[in-house]
Amino acid sequence: MAKIVIANFKMNKTESETKDYLISFLSKFEDYKAELILALPYTSLSLAKFMLEGRAVAISAQNISEDDEKGATGEISGRMLAGSGASYVIVGHSERRTKFKENNKVINQKIKNGLKNGLSIILCVGESLADRNTMKTLATLKVQIEEALKGLYENELENIIIAYEPVWAIGSGKTPSPKDVELAVKSIRKVIEEDFSPKASEQIRVVYGGSINPKNAQKFASISGINGILVGSASLDPNIFMQIINACV
Ligand code: PGA
Repeated sequence: MAKIVIANFKMNKTESETKDYLISFLSKFEDYKAELILALPYTSLSLAKFMLEGRAVAISAQNISEDDEKGATGEISGRMLAGSGASYVIVGHSERRTKFKENNKVINQKIKNGLKNGLSIILCVGESLADRNTMKTLATLKVQIEEALKGLYENELENIIIAYEPVWAIGSGKTPSPKDVELAVKSIRKVIEEDFSPKASEQIRVVYGGSINPKNAQKFASISGINGILVGSASLDPNIFMQIINACV
């Protein structure tokens, strides 16, 4: 199966900087055997939709409101995201869990809202350093997944990618060992098996994210049970991101 490679721009790049990025990216673009997803700031979504027309690259947003359209100044609805060209949305990134106090209940509502509006979901989960040091990694993952996916139908999991991102590995240059990632992915799939079915556990797509670079991309993308990678800061330079993609296909 083709590997999934997700770029997360986070709060980087103006619309015109995204334009320059995509011009450079597309000039080297080949028909990759990877499934590419670019998670862009809201202000770049429509431009990317226009520039990526006909290319095998999906566009993702990085957040969605848990509410439908109403008086919620500054928020963005699933319908708006879909209308701007997004087919995916990232939910539950650790930066939102910590900085914006998004808990699992809110994350569950955001997922349901995204799905209702036809968006696929990239659900980020991962343990903190404190969880890891107290051997609570697997317990944390279980709670995050069970609460995020509460009330979903099994067939909706087709539209969900789980991104395993240890919080301490994000933007730190530190990574877990492939063995640790393998264990975490096994436990993620076990939760899905218990709450849904063995088939769902086998089919759900799980990617790894946290300090991916061109040197380690292939190692993490090829871990057993892993379907791809999510790349943050190393995706901001189109040449480096291209090297990462090439390392995975
Ligand atoms: P990083 O970010 O690759 O810069 O560690 C990953 C992420 O935040 O999703």
